[in-house]
Amino acid sequence: MLEEIKKTAAWIKAQTHDFTPEVGIILGTGLGDFADRIETEYALDYKSIPGFPVSTVEGHKGRLIFGRVEGHRVVAMQGRFHYYEGYGMQQVTFPVRVMQQLGIRYLFVSNASGGINTSFRVGDLMVITDHINLMPNPLIGPNMAELGPRFPDMHNCYDRELIARATRIAEEEGIKLQYGVYVGGTGPTFETQAEYRYFKAIGGDAAGMSTVPEVIVARHMSIPVFGVSVITNCGLSDEVGDHEDVQRQGKKAGVRMQRLFERMIKEL
Ligand code: HPA
Repeated sequence: MLEEIKKTAAWIKAQTHDFTPEVGIILGTGLGDFADRIETEYALDYKSIPGFPVSTVEGHKGRLIFGRVEGHRVVAMQGRFHYYEGYGMQQVTFPVRVMQQLGIRYLFVSNASGGINTSFRVGDLMVITDHINLMPNPLIGPNMAELGPRFPDMHNCYDRELIARATRIAEEEGIKLQYGVYVGGTGPTFETQAEYRYFKAIGGDAAGMSTVPEVIVARHMSIPVFGVSVITNCGLSDEVGDHEDVQRQGKKAGVRMQRLFERMIKEL
């Protein structure tokens, strides 16, 4: 596995003339527009990258973008790999391993989720303060000791300093933020009403189908993580979740999300 990761990283380095990103960004559902804010130097289609899985979900482009945001070098995943697409956890998290080899010192993630905290509204941005993993753990299997410990600590998975900075920036920018615990399930079904109640009962504020595997792998390698979720539906209301609505709401909130991410990167 480690060999494959290194091979892919070496191939990318050769293609990008040793571009060394400081920040890795995973652009989730409806938030691909952030790619337009990157002064792009290189863009690689996933399908051209040896070892990379290929994204299949509608609205996910499937490119790795290298460039600058506010003067900082970033690598952004336009489109991510979901467990529900049928990829193994090693594949879902492969790009994060590769980004670490390329040199990232921070991981920024975004996603869409269903609010289960009843004070949340559709279109809210939720800073992820913690998560509950209801998917298979991506670290199951032989430990890659060169990358991190067998039993990684998961306290403060989402970096406290970055959260504090987001709070200050949001105040300055007039962006309303919610805070909460992201419950990562496998999908692809949205939750039943009983499941939303269950997620709430165990301490969740929002339900989603991504992010947790990538964050676990980043934390295995001690990379500080910042994550924001767009609340695209309210799980405990009677309305039904559907993929198009998720994409539409994600796009609308994307403008505020982009502003926040830009300022966060500027201040690194
Ligand atoms: N559940 C799981 N994933 C989601 C949801 C949801 O309600 N909304 C957007 N992604």
